[in-house]
Amino acid sequence: MGLLQKILIPVLGLVLAFCFYSSRENFKPEMLKGKRVIVTGASTGIGEQMAYHLARMGAHVLVTARTEAKLQQVNGKLGTHTCTHRHREANLTLQVVERCRALGASSARLVSGSMEDMATTRQLVEVAEAELGGLDMLILNHVGKSYFNYFDGDVGHVQKLLNINFLSYVAMTVSALPMLKRSGGSIVVVSSMAGKVGFPFTVPYSATKFALDGFFSSLRQEFSIQSVNVSITLCILGFIDTENAMRAAADVLLMSPAPKEECALEIIKGGTLRQREVYYRYASTKLPLLLRDWAAELLDLLVRQRYRPERLRAA
Ligand SMILES: NC(=O)c1ccc[n+]([C@@H]2O[C@H](COP(=O)([O-])OP(=O)(O)OC[C@H]3O[C@@H](n4cnc5c(N)ncnc54)[C@H](OP(=O)(O)O)[C@@H]3O)[C@@H](O)[C@H]2O)c1
Repeated sequence: MGLLQKILIPVLGLVLAFCFYSSRENFKPEMLKGKRVIVTGASTGIGEQMAYHLARMGAHVLVTARTEAKLQQVNGKLGTHTCTHRHREANLTLQVVERCRALGASSARLVSGSMEDMATTRQLVEVAEAELGGLDMLILNHVGKSYFNYFDGDVGHVQKLLNINFLSYVAMTVSALPMLKRSGGSIVVVSSMAGKVGFPFTVPYSATKFALDGFFSSLRQEFSIQSVNVSITLCILGFIDTENAMRAAADVLLMSPAPKEECALEIIKGGTLRQREVYYRYASTKLPLLLRDWAAELLDLLVRQRYRPERLRAA
């Protein structure tokens, strides 16, 4: 009986795991052809790369960022020097749309506005309804600017970041849900290892990412109980080589970043296959998490060893 338990049960587990994973559908780019997708925070970084992948796959792509709103503010209030800089930012987002069209998107459009303002979230969803006639996938990816340093005690900043990184995700989900229910669609939430484990120097950011896990994992349970045919994919990302992340953390973090293009593709694959969670890169995210509940202090120590606090910029 002892031998049976030691050998047969693990082998049975492996066989079941193999059957489970091999019976899952494989990803094919054609799965996205003609699908109506919103990607938030797509002027730069991972969001921009997701827009290009979706365009190549022939999706209808609706991208968002603040740029045009910034531009209006600039035209109304600010001087010429800043105006030139902001014009450049707006042009960048328009270039994303142009490039999506050139890459083969069924259609590409931009809706601009700050996600700090909940009215923007409604407006965005209204545009999808009016111009695309519905929605198949909502990719929530934008992230507000924060600092990479010791927590500075600024409660107002935590509140602002919660609005941008968490509450706007909730508000967009609520507004888009009727359309997603009609299409049997998907919600993809871009989160971070900092939303699963306490990392130093990103206290406000980390709080917003943990909040996403709580909200969307609970909502997934309710969808399951109520047989709501809308999938929720939470994406747990490690360090990715986007311009903003590299500028903030490359000097302090002792790890090599993963490429944003591949990261963007993995997120789209996971969302399309309606996976519960996506881990990218798998080895540097999923494996450390196995330690979290059994050896939390060891994991904390390993995390701290990856940082060089003496290289933090003066606040
Ligand atoms: N890069 C990493 O190492 C890493 C690691 C783990 C998780 N992630 C997650 O991956 C996602 C993308 O990260 P990223 O590095 O690609 O970010 P990023 O390059 O900094 O891009 C952020 C995007 O969000 C938009 N945005 C910022 N503030 C906004 C606001 N108030 N309203 C609306 N849009 C706003 C930005 O456009 P505008 O400035 O034009 O508005 C931009 O398009 C985020 O959710 C992030 O937490 C990234």
